[in-house]
Amino acid sequence: MLLLAIESTCDETAAAVLRDDLTVLGSVVASQEELHERFSGVVPEIAARAHLERIVPVIDEALRRAGVKLADLDAIAVAHTPGLAGSLLVGLVAAKTLCLASGKPLVAVNHLHGHIYACRMAAGKDVFPCVGLIVSGGHSNLYRCDSPVEFQYLGGTIDDAAGEAFDKVAAMLGLGYPGGPAIAKAAQAGNPTAFQFPRSFLHEPTRLAFSFSGLKTAVRYAIAGPGKPRPEASELEPQFVADLAASFQAAVVDSLVDKALRAVETTGLRTLCVGGGVAANRLLRQRLMEETSTRGVELHIAPPELCTDNAVMGAVAFERLRAGLTESLDLDAQPGLVRA
Ligand code: KG4
Ligand code: ZN
Repeated sequence: MLLLAIESTCDETAAAVLRDDLTVLGSVVASQEELHERFSGVVPEIAARAHLERIVPVIDEALRRAGVKLADLDAIAVAHTPGLAGSLLVGLVAAKTLCLASGKPLVAVNHLHGHIYACRMAAGKDVFPCVGLIVSGGHSNLYRCDSPVEFQYLGGTIDDAAGEAFDKVAAMLGLGYPGGPAIAKAAQAGNPTAFQFPRSFLHEPTRLAFSFSGLKTAVRYAIAGPGKPRPEASELEPQFVADLAASFQAAVVDSLVDKALRAVETTGLRTLCVGGGVAANRLLRQRLMEETSTRGVELHIAPPELCTDNAVMGAVAFERLRAGLTESLDLDAQPGLVRA
């Protein structure tokens, strides 16, 4: 079976042509980083407009790279939840239009299922059941994943996502956007113990939750105390910036690793899959590798290019297609996070 998968949940316009043995025949990701850079975060209206301009050429290019025509496809899959409403609608309308024109069935993809399925694709073997940790610009959640499409919410952030914290702290430090890679780079020259930043809920071992908003404030106060104006990032000493970046990164990684391991412990599952843009972070990957190997837990993290948003992870649609789960053209965008 051949599938065209479309992804437009946030700020990447992506399409991929996939075969049901999980071979990637063609994959295209058009990033919008340069459009959102000066805002230090994704501006929903700008993202939706950019998707609109890019979606057709991106789909065309994915088909061209795969050497496949619309008529050769068995189905068209689209990520319809969760995400930014305007962004989701562009991918959804593109997918529905192609289905209407070609008579091909439409398959719904949950973007979060996709992030964990990226691990399954990289592993080249079944990884379910597993604990899934999804850490991105919009999510920091833990799931019990009984199958590729059956997720049970175990816990998550009570405020910001980890990626959001990376992006906003990078902005405060004048490191640019997206913040994750920029902080990781700056942190290489820094001391991770220079600042003692909070690691929320570590004192509550049974609570599977994250909080990164207070951490952002702690970084802000380390730059200039409460009530004091924040200096321009250009006025900050490079070593001070590196130490802040390293200490911030260490706090985020400590929280994520601790709660992911707790989730493994409480569920009794022996496999941990980690997806989403923040899973590209080298320190997080290294720490997870160390901690899981000493506990005999199987760890799967997709390669960095499959951690950030892409359409290859839309291969999870094969799981639904095989079960006969196709959608009518009434399928709607569902921006909010459905926890189950
Ligand atoms: O999954 P993704 O591409 O989009 C969302 O669904 O949000 O994740 C993007 C997020 C951004 O916040 C970015 O700063 C973060 O992932 N990120 C990283 C790294 N690479 C990307 N965070 C930490 N370290 C990285 N190396
Ligand atoms: Zn994502």
